[in-house]
Amino acid sequence: MLQKKLSFLQLFVIIAACIFLSGIKVQAQIPSNKTSITNGGNITDTQGNVINAHGGGFLKVGKYYYWIGENRHNDVLVSCYRSTDLINWEFRGDLLTRKSNPELANANIERPKVIYNDATGQFVMWMHYEISSDYSYARAAVATSPDIEKPFTYINSFRPFENMSRDCNLYKDQDGTAYFISSTRENRDMNVYELTKDYLTAKSKVATLWPDAQREAPTVVKRGEYYFMLTSFCTGWDPNQAKYAFAKNMRGPWSELKNIGSPMSYDTQPTFILPVEGEKETSYLYLGDRWDPSEYFNSKPIFLPLTFVNDTTMEMQWASELTPDTKTGDIVTLNEKPTQYRIKSKWTGKYLVLQRNKNAAVNNISDYRLSYTQTDLRWQIEPIADDYVRLLHVTSGKYIESTGKDETRLIAQNDSDTQQWKISYQEDGWCKLINKATGKALSIDRSQNKSDKLLVTTLYQEKYDPFYDKQAFLLAPVYE
Ligand code: GAL
Repeated sequence: MLQKKLSFLQLFVIIAACIFLSGIKVQAQIPSNKTSITNGGNITDTQGNVINAHGGGFLKVGKYYYWIGENRHNDVLVSCYRSTDLINWEFRGDLLTRKSNPELANANIERPKVIYNDATGQFVMWMHYEISSDYSYARAAVATSPDIEKPFTYINSFRPFENMSRDCNLYKDQDGTAYFISSTRENRDMNVYELTKDYLTAKSKVATLWPDAQREAPTVVKRGEYYFMLTSFCTGWDPNQAKYAFAKNMRGPWSELKNIGSPMSYDTQPTFILPVEGEKETSYLYLGDRWDPSEYFNSKPIFLPLTFVNDTTMEMQWASELTPDTKTGDIVTLNEKPTQYRIKSKWTGKYLVLQRNKNAAVNNISDYRLSYTQTDLRWQIEPIADDYVRLLHVTSGKYIESTGKDETRLIAQNDSDTQQWKISYQEDGWCKLINKATGKALSIDRSQNKSDKLLVTTLYQEKYDPFYDKQAFLLAPVYE
């Protein structure tokens, strides 16, 4: 029989080992520290939960960057996360919920942004306030809190100077003057308001920008002598071409709008630009929403670096992965080149897809609304000689070809000219696809049969201008 008395020292060692091991166990439950941001998928917090901070923005307080945005789960409206490295985000709490105020019980809160008022010691949140699903309230709303991590006190909702106010953002200038920027007049114009000293209301309207240009999703950053305002066009949850303008004064004059990034903004809509001020340099980090038009909760945040070619030229490149260094201010990126495309029709705004009956030897082509998860929307562009390509539908393995009767179909690969297309780019980045056998352009239309609403692709003479939109396609890379 092994009976041995444990000495005090042995006991101490055993207890210490237990404490140490239990510590390891607790730590093992927390996902290990991430070292980079990977775009395309969900971004999780330090507990492994999906981050819900859509239409969000950042604010630096002390050593922490705060990320505050929309969260539509349960009764939550606005949530708060913090990070020191912009990679590992810790959930800190819900700042507004449906229960925060009776006015919020049925509200739809979008694009919340927070700035700090040095004079009042309050964090002030402005947001887009709606009740009805048709967005007809078109109001701004305001809430405050002395502590950025604690629930905010909702104050009110209103239309600044009776102006409709939808997509919006805040900008706090170096001298403490704050501005509210929001889409107005049914999203046709963009208004800039200077806020009162307490930031609780609009003091005056200082600019109405780009009348009738239909810009929304504004975000402002200042670099050197220039303010930059980045916006999107109005296409609901669908992405479009982001544009920016610059000015020496928030009141203007603002420059013309200039394209930035890809024609679909890498499938994102702007929500914020964060200057990452390090010891070595200041970099600019773009936060966009990749909204899923079919399922809001599948929407993903996308982080991209913004770079400047000169004082007034801003650029945005795709990055599949990025590592910001908050100490130096550097952002290292990795760019995996997309190999697949979605083919968007300018006329329908939807994407080419194989029509019905996947397993048949021959299929027609139809169109379908944007979906990031529907792999049937994906195509590959296979280069052949003389600038011609084949258009391969990825999941079926079939190719678009002309039947010779001005019709098109999807069928197994052959060597004929009927499957070969020349990509003829237009000035706006969209293209025509010219068939080698017929010299005619791929074109789309609704089926003649009225009961059949499906799209058909046909071939028309290339220069048939009234059908330009019907012949215009965007080869939109699948960025993931
Ligand atoms: C977008 C807007 C989003 C959301 C959406 C609803 O235009 O930027 O924040 O309001 O419309 O369709």
